[in-house]
Amino acid sequence: MSRAESFWSGKLALVTGGASFIGSTLTDQLVARGAQVRIVDDLSSGHLENIRGHLGGGNVDFLHADLREPGVTRAAMHGVDTVFHLAADHGGRGYVDLHQAGPASNFFLDGLVFAEALRAKVKKVVFASSGCVYPNFLQSDTHKEVYLTEEMTNGPKDADNSYGWAKLMGEITLQAYAKEHGMGAASCRYFTVYGPRGVENHAVIAMIARAFMEQNPFEIWGDGSQIRNWTYIEDIVEGTILAGEKINDGTAINLGTMERITVLDCAKMVCDFTKHKAEIKKRPDMPTGPLNRVADNALAKRLLGWEPKVAFREGLKRTIVWYYSTKDRGEVERTFGRLLTER
Ligand SMILES: NC(=O)c1ccc[n+]([C@@H]2O[C@H](COP(=O)([O-])OP(=O)(O)OC[C@H]3O[C@@H](n4cnc5c(N)ncnc54)[C@H](O)[C@@H]3O)[C@@H](O)[C@H]2O)c1
Repeated sequence: MSRAESFWSGKLALVTGGASFIGSTLTDQLVARGAQVRIVDDLSSGHLENIRGHLGGGNVDFLHADLREPGVTRAAMHGVDTVFHLAADHGGRGYVDLHQAGPASNFFLDGLVFAEALRAKVKKVVFASSGCVYPNFLQSDTHKEVYLTEEMTNGPKDADNSYGWAKLMGEITLQAYAKEHGMGAASCRYFTVYGPRGVENHAVIAMIARAFMEQNPFEIWGDGSQIRNWTYIEDIVEGTILAGEKINDGTAINLGTMERITVLDCAKMVCDFTKHKAEIKKRPDMPTGPLNRVADNALAKRLLGWEPKVAFREGLKRTIVWYYSTKDRGEVERTFGRLLTER
């Protein structure tokens, strides 16, 4: 048995939002390491299909419920060793830019989950935070080679919409709980995650979907010069589990690659790998988010011994293979337009 397996063996982990893209992949890995997993998910954006393989298998309990309903979160904490808090009102760029009220409900959701974890004396809370906590004003110039380092949120704050503010407040709450109440805590700032089970409301999957539907002209949002560090799901989950093992004091760490890829380059790669020939049409009228967002991942390397293993070209190819082998074109065409701006 490996070191990681022995750490999780027999432990009960609560994964809130465990039917999501990231939550279900995290569940797979926790089970593989010997943990028992309890999932609470209201399926508002998660999918039962993502966890179906675990149902009835004896290692995963699934509770279909809204954590904000009276008593649900308190009951979910019973006997739990580690909470991985991923439940959130969250969508892709279109959703985060165009909806403020929904993501603002995360202030309440996160506060409730953390308070009940403290009350239940769970050993550790690992929070799915985001690159959206970083100040927008640091991310507006595509000519600069900026790498966001964790302490950049300590100065003037300018988070990304109500979604980013809620993630930042969640981190601050956990740091205070760690310091003042001794609760184990860690926050993982995920940077634009992609991979199998990803949803079309995020850019990479949306681009693959456009190729899959043979869209021509092939639309990209903005002028395509936006820079991102899309990070593969397996790397994100590995870092999250390591944070659960190694960080206790509420430290927030970046989980992201340092590869700088533009939206336009990603679109070209998608068309190239899928052999989709199309004219690329820029849509400057659509939401772009910050123009230049890339993580520095030195802290995760130092504290966790983590570094991303999957380069973008490789991860993109794997994601395309998954998408083309599992999706139905008629269904994608029916849901695509709505998903771009909704959850
Ligand atoms: N996908 C990314 O690129 C990315 C980047 C940064 C952070 N994150 C964070 O990672 C987490 C997982 O995101 P994701 O992209 O896998 O999918 P997601 O946004 O669909 O995950 C949220 C999950 O929480 C569930 N949920 C929402 N509100 C709930 C409630 N009140 N009670 C119970 N369940 C509820 C949803 O059904 C869903 O399964 C989220 O916290 C998200 O903010 C994701």
